[in-house]
Amino acid sequence: MIPRSFIQDLLARVDIVDVIERYLPLKKGGINYFACCPFHGEKTPSFSISPSKQFYHCFGCGVHGNAIGFLMEYSGLSFVEAVRELAQQVGLEVPQEQGDASHAQRSGEHEALLTAMDKATQFYRDQLKTSPEAIAYLKRRGLTGEIAARFGIGFAPAGWQSLEAVFPNYQDKTLLDAGLVIVNEQGRRYDRFRERIMFPIQDRRGRVIAFGGRVLDSGEPKYLNSPETPLFEKGRELYGIRQAMQAIRDDGYALVVEGYMDVVALAQFGIGNAVATLGTATTPHHIQSLLRYADRIVFCFDGDKAGRKAARRALENSLEALRDDATLAFLFLPEEHDPDSFVRSEGADALREAARNATPLAGFLLRELSADCDLDTAEGRARLVHEARPLVSRVAAPLLKLQLVKAVAEAGGLNQGEVEQAWGMPASHRTTVQRHDTRTPRNPRPARGKRQAPTSPAATLLRLVLQHPAWIARIPVDLVPHGEPQGQALAALCDAVSIGELETGKGLAQVVEHFRESPHYAVLAASAAELVGTDYDDSVIEQMFDDTLDSLAARNIEQEILALTAREREQGLDAGERRRLAELIAEKHRTRSPGKA
Ligand code: UTP
Ligand code: MN
Repeated sequence: MIPRSFIQDLLARVDIVDVIERYLPLKKGGINYFACCPFHGEKTPSFSISPSKQFYHCFGCGVHGNAIGFLMEYSGLSFVEAVRELAQQVGLEVPQEQGDASHAQRSGEHEALLTAMDKATQFYRDQLKTSPEAIAYLKRRGLTGEIAARFGIGFAPAGWQSLEAVFPNYQDKTLLDAGLVIVNEQGRRYDRFRERIMFPIQDRRGRVIAFGGRVLDSGEPKYLNSPETPLFEKGRELYGIRQAMQAIRDDGYALVVEGYMDVVALAQFGIGNAVATLGTATTPHHIQSLLRYADRIVFCFDGDKAGRKAARRALENSLEALRDDATLAFLFLPEEHDPDSFVRSEGADALREAARNATPLAGFLLRELSADCDLDTAEGRARLVHEARPLVSRVAAPLLKLQLVKAVAEAGGLNQGEVEQAWGMPASHRTTVQRHDTRTPRNPRPARGKRQAPTSPAATLLRLVLQHPAWIARIPVDLVPHGEPQGQALAALCDAVSIGELETGKGLAQVVEHFRESPHYAVLAASAAELVGTDYDDSVIEQMFDDTLDSLAARNIEQEILALTAREREQGLDAGERRRLAELIAEKHRTRSPGKA
């Protein structure tokens, strides 16, 4: 637990431009700074940073936040780690506050698991140095010491309790929770990994969260993996992501392969942008996480039957995570190869070339579907259109979906309208305009530089006070409409100011930060992001603020009048209510009078 006041002070001390400049080359344009967005691939910069707002916003993909948020997203840090990192950059010491016990305990257990994994990694690495057979094996597989070190490869020796050497308390619960030991039916503990080459699986922050262990030469299973633990959820992690992250950004695409050895061998041959799924099918989560670094993913599967099956599953699992601004492609190696053997026999350039020419997703999908149908017959073509439907309907990205519909129509010998009709889809020219990526992970993205017109007085008011937090105190709380998220966020702002929890002399970044844990955070941050690069003009902003308050007041009066007139019709009004109605009507006419538009 870090005191809130410290976080506010920290944000006042750091400059988001300095923070981001450490990681990205920035260009100044007008009052803001620009860069190519590190969270989605792009060639023209739409990632903007506002020094006055201390906030960033990408007009391409919608990411936004303050300096803390940037470090969390970019470096994969937790909130606390990001705060520590920033504090260090400006030379502040992070004070500690007593947190609630269960939270502290949970994070304590987490730390203990990570420490255990660290210790084990070091142990396995040390063991490799003194194990001639393991070294010989890796040499035979063509790995250099340098690349083995880069991936932290180690060796688990043959004994049953080798880990006891580094964990004197071998009975510690942590070892079991971390998946490093197994308990047999007699309650005896032994090492999970014995006589195996050890591949540490790191998260994107570089922390070891699991292991994959390969037998030396033959034996079953060939690879033994850590079980799922509090640190390790297979479907979310990718082997090699830590080492590949930068190369994926630089190369503009990620190469997804099947095996640990493939990743390591490719890296050795200078192909650093490869990652592997961990003995599971590619999940939408994998795809989303890779699309943070580049807008192209090439799946590279073995040329055998199993490889084709894996490709098909990757295809099916990617449909929901697809984005219009991203491309997915499938690369099939010749039958006898996996990426490891291919790069060794054909070289890195051949592999890069093949990745460039990989089959785009739409083409692969059609090829897969056509393989099952005889397109020379009407029945076969009808079957293709029928079987394509469940797949295509999972695609949320509107333009891509349209392309797929067109391609299916063509292959099925129909026109686009006929397919849409057969599938019960509304005609595409309407859907593509209206349904803008509602299921993609990021926020809906307005066209660059264009601000979406605020849809309500509450939304406008929220933006205005985010630009001028001092004005929060000027909003009469009973004016705030509670029916929409922006109104609720406004009310939360007003509350925080009125009880003295939030100082309004602070900037926008701090105001938003104050609500990080609150349900209003997303609305506040999105609203703040819209202000990056699109300030309200100072000459009109105060007038807008007053006008918006007036129109809210007018709306409240109107609503109360409506409610009272309805009541009058239904059951009549008492004297007090009648007086109130008269007041409201007078008030309504006053606010409508000329000069106070
Ligand atoms: P492969 O059998 O294709 O492995 O399995 P590989 O990487 O080419 O291995 P080498 O070249 O023989 O050393 C691909 C991936 O499937 C998972 C592992 O993640 C492996 O890297 N797998 C495979 C397991 O989890 N368990 C197994 O028994 C086999
Ligand atoms: Mn292999």
